Parts: sequence; structure tokens; C-alpha cells
Amino acid sequence: MNNTTFETNEYTDTPKAILVGLSYDDRDERAFERSMSELTALTKACDLEPAMTITQTLPHPDHATFIGSGKVEELKNLISMLDANIIIFGDTLSPIQLRNLERILDTEVIDRTGLILQIFAKRARTREARMQVEYAQLQFMLPRLAGMRTELSRQGGGSGRLSNKGAGEKKLELDRRRIEHRCAELRRDLEAIEHERDTQRAKRMSSDIPRISLVGYTNAGKSTLLNAFLDASHIEEKENKKVMQKDMLFATLDTTVRRIDLPGHRPFLLSDTVGFINELPTTLVKAFRSTLSEAVYADLLLEVIDFSDPDYMTHIEVTEKTLRDIGASQIPIIYVFNKADLVIEGSEHSAMKIPHLRDDRIYMSAENSIGLNELSSLIERTLEGEKIDCEFVIPYSDGAALHDITSRAEVSETEYTESGTHLILKCSKKMVQKYQAYTI
Ligand code: GTP
Repeated sequence: MNNTTFETNEYTDTPKAILVGLSYDDRDERAFERSMSELTALTKACDLEPAMTITQTLPHPDHATFIGSGKVEELKNLISMLDANIIIFGDTLSPIQLRNLERILDTEVIDRTGLILQIFAKRARTREARMQVEYAQLQFMLPRLAGMRTELSRQGGGSGRLSNKGAGEKKLELDRRRIEHRCAELRRDLEAIEHERDTQRAKRMSSDIPRISLVGYTNAGKSTLLNAFLDASHIEEKENKKVMQKDMLFATLDTTVRRIDLPGHRPFLLSDTVGFINELPTTLVKAFRSTLSEAVYADLLLEVIDFSDPDYMTHIEVTEKTLRDIGASQIPIIYVFNKADLVIEGSEHSAMKIPHLRDDRIYMSAENSIGLNELSSLIERTLEGEKIDCEFVIPYSDGAALHDITSRAEVSETEYTESGTHLILKCSKKMVQKYQAYTI
């Protein structure tokens, strides 16, 4: 494959981007095409105009310029023809490749990771999210300092590096020590916020209400599901409690926790957090660990899947990998196959009526509030089913564990022994794992 695609121009003053994809190592062609469409969606999510896409097939990437030298020349001509402001590569470039390409093309070059970092920078609203993004950007920049075209502002990378070409860009030697100092400052402030978050979480954990986290690929419909649950709930001021739902990658960055109280069902706390994506930059996963950790402390995960996306199986794999990375892989999961309204008619699933339940999965439509009651019942059954009989002896020195266990488990007998409080109870598998040392 060696082709060039012009996009229709629906933009006016937005910076123009040329997207570059390289298919190598016998990559599966359809997977490659899908990754390029995802790159287009990411480009739009970053408020850039994807003016053109060029692709090339090579046995392996060129170590100096990633794509072949002929393709680099073609790119150079296209830049002046289209008056493009930025070049976006679909893979991760090495610092050397990035530097060489910027020098030859005399235009800003970013890769997929850089683009995702930019989207996060644009979306971050809370102080914590802004600091997490800035930290991730600085960590990403450190090894690339030598080749950077633009100056890092005093506030760090959060101010947006997608410079416009006419603004007189300068190559500046960036002060590594300044960045490292800023990173240390950010780490300290983030730790303080994390401590505050732990305190809030401890409060929630001590309550009897189960905690459920929405997880899943970006744009799967997590925020829509949370809003649909709120709409159906018995609570006041629900309009103010709604979160943003938008047909855009990474619309939500900050974690929101809401109490859901559906008539005829047990209430629960539902948290919505940042969506996952294939190859979510590791710097971001690290920086957002505390935001993502909301999922780690959940009793149950609702994995929302866009069932109408032909690539949904890959999205499930990516989500599970990310859950493993953040240490949440052992928490029970319900698979929510959302947007089923879009697939039922005329598809191989045409016989399926929604909502449709099967074991630990539900096919539903959050947007049309179809399947909320059925999902709530499945949640209850899953939480109940997870309870097991257990015995603990909790040393008197660990009052926090005693409080945590007695407030959340169904205790049937309590006895005060020489070695500690002896409890016979029913509790979640997760709790047994957490207090493994005290089980008998
Ligand atoms: P991120 O914030 O990127 O992680 O996205 P998200 O998973 O929170 O997705 P969001 O709820 O913002 O929904 C993405 C888009 O899908 C929106 O345009 C929704 O209106 C649409 N959507 C969500 N659920 C359904 C559904 O059941 N059916 C249809 N047809 N569209 C849906």
C-alpha cells in the first residue's frame, strides 16, 4: 500500500495536519487502516484539521526518518502545497527520528503519543488533571529535549506546544534541570492531592454502599450510562450531577463519583473516569494512576463496550491490558455491550432483542435507557454472588481493619480472644484477599 487520501475541508482557521502511517512487519492491513482512522479521530479531538493522510509499506521503519527518504521528500512537497502546520505520525518515533524529521521538513512533527498528550492537555479541567498532564508531558519531553523546536513555557508543557508556524518558532536549548525541578514540584503537589483523595475514598469505603467503576475504551458510552442511571434515580438536582457526554475521544478526564438510587434496587456509588485507548502512553498511565486507581478500589467494574464498533474485540483486549497495568484485573467485571441499538437491525444479531442478558454480560443502549433495570439486577446478583463465608482474627492493634471489615461485611459472630477479635462472616472475595493475613 502506498497511498494518499485528501480529506474534505470542513474547517476554516484550524491548524492543518498531515497524517503519516507506516505499515511494517507484515502488519494486518485492516488493523492498520483502523489505526489510521483512529489517528484521524484523535487529530480532530485535538482541534486540528486532518488535511491529508499518507501511508507507506516497508519491511521495517527507517532508523533515521521512520519512513523512507522518498516519502520524506513527498511529505516536504505536500507541506508547502497544503501550507500544513504539523505532521502527525501514527507510531511512536524515537527522539532521533523526531529530530531528523523536524530538521528536514522544517515543520513541527509529533507522534501518536505526543498527540494524545496534547488532547489530555486540552481537556484537563481540574487542578489535579492539569498537573498530571503536565507531569506526563515533561516526562515525555525529557529524552527529546535536543530536538525540540519550541520553547517550553515557564509553566511547563500544559500551555500547548502546537505552535503556529508564523509565530517565529525558535530552537531553544531547554533547561533539563528546570524541568526536573518542576517535575519534583508537581510530584509533591500531586502526592498531597492523592492523600486528600485517599481520605475521601476511605470515607466512601467505610460506608455500606457498593462501589462500582465504569471502565472501557474511549467513546464507548461510559458517561452516557452514568447520566442514564442518574436520570432514572430517585435523587435531587440530578441535572447538576450529570457529566459531559460527547462524541469525541477522551471527552472525560476527571473522575466523578455519583450515588445511583434506582427504584426497587439497592443504591450504589458509580464512578466514571478517563477512557482507555490502544497504547495509552505509559507516561500518562503513570501520571493518571491516582485517577485511574478509583477502579482499583471498586467492588465491581462495569466494562462498557461500543458493540457497534467493528473493532470492539480489540477494545476489550486493550481495556483488560490497562486494567492489569493499574492492578485492577482481579475485580469482578460485568461486560456492558452498549450501543446495541445500532447493531441489531440487519446484522447477524438481528434476532437479538435488547436488553439481552447472558451470564456476566448485557446488550443494551445507554443512550435510549434500554436495559438499566436489567443491568441493576445483574449488578445485585454479581455483588451477592461474590460473597463468601470466612473467618478472621483481627489483632487489636489494627483498628482500621476491624472497622473496614465490620462496616462492609455481614458479621454473624464476634468473639474477643487473646490474639484479637474473632469474626465469622460473609464478605467479598476482594476483602478476603485484602485481609489474607488475618484469615483462619
Ligand atoms: P470518553 O469520555 O472518551 O471516555 O467517552 P465515554 O465512554 O464517556 O463516551 P460518551 O458517554 O461520551 O459517549 C460517546 C458517544 O456515544 C456520545 O455521542 C453518545 O451520545 C454516544 N452513545 C452512548 N451510548 C449510546 C447508545 O446506547 N447508542 C447510541 N446510538 N449512541 C450512544
